[in-house]
Amino acid sequence: MTVYPDYSLKKLNTFGFDVRAKFFAAPETIEALGELLFDNRYARLPQLVLGGGSNMLFCADFDGLVIQPRITGIEKIEETADDVYLRVGAGVVWDDFVAYAVQHHWGGVENLSFIPGHVGASPVQNIGAYGAEAKDSIRQVECILKATGERKVFTAGECAFGYRDSIFKQAWRGRLIVTHVIFQLAKHPVLRTHYGNVEEELRKYPEVTLQTLRKAIIAIRRKRLPDPQELGSAGSFFKNPVVPKKLADELISKDPRMTAYPINVDYVKLPAARLIEQAGWKGMRAGAVGVHSRQALVIVHYGGGTGKEALALSSLICQSVYEKFGVQLEPEVNIVE
Ligand code: EPU
Repeated sequence: MTVYPDYSLKKLNTFGFDVRAKFFAAPETIEALGELLFDNRYARLPQLVLGGGSNMLFCADFDGLVIQPRITGIEKIEETADDVYLRVGAGVVWDDFVAYAVQHHWGGVENLSFIPGHVGASPVQNIGAYGAEAKDSIRQVECILKATGERKVFTAGECAFGYRDSIFKQAWRGRLIVTHVIFQLAKHPVLRTHYGNVEEELRKYPEVTLQTLRKAIIAIRRKRLPDPQELGSAGSFFKNPVVPKKLADELISKDPRMTAYPINVDYVKLPAARLIEQAGWKGMRAGAVGVHSRQALVIVHYGGGTGKEALALSSLICQSVYEKFGVQLEPEVNIVE
């Protein structure tokens, strides 16, 4: 297994920040990954597991071993009258998996079309968009434990999935590497078209199918979110904050375009994008970084900048949103300082 010293991560993070790893390796099998974990030359170094690098903010070089699992393959492991179960390698590009599912007329992940990143990260942050979350389709997550090299399988119930959250970001954080994810997809899916302007976009197509829903979602994403090939970003930089209903009601009374999504009787989720826009940040540029002109939740990198600049901008945004609305924003991206 090749381990590369002093490796550039510029192409491995969608922000496109020019940082380096002391060592980098991309194991293609569970066995190669196991060997790497127990290679004495690297065992004492800090380790970082990277998927597609689409949710990472590197603020400095990484003084350790960066591991990017490239375990590929999509395997049908079970089929019933209603469902198929697929075992998908952590290194499969997420949208290749979605395209494969839609091509086979299997439903469940079509609303998550065009999300950048790898399958291995999908359970970690429970990726979500347009009324669907990865957790709706994930049945099991197969991992390798860093400390012992043992394999461990988590059932969906054990993953403690929440909004952009799971046990892999909490109790098991940094202690394992996802190798495969098992998805249950429906052979007779019920399509979810109610989020935002999905229905409106779908009217441009003659019928509503898995294929046209995927096309509509891709079209919406292309309109609102920057293409990482053209403009560096990590998608949403912040999570949508959960706030007391009383505070949300006050904010809604002052801003007719403010919306709220109920969580329980006392709390609601607010769109961070609206708060950031109302605080005047949308389209603002600070040197090499800025706030996207079409989606205020996205911090962009125009090139030649550093992760520290993006982090500094995010702090200013947080501070100003807090001062203006009393709402504390939290980053959604993983920050490596
Ligand atoms: N809005 C604004 N200004 C903007 C953008 C949006 O006021 O610049 C308002 C919209 O009017 C709307 C609300 O904010 O009422 C929600 O906007 P949108 O539907 O675009 O979604 P979001 O809450 O901003 C979340 C996810 C996205 C996902 C979209 C669509 C998070 C942190 N982000 O964004 O996920 O694509 O919903 O489902 O939950 C990501 O995680 O990287 C990501 C892009």
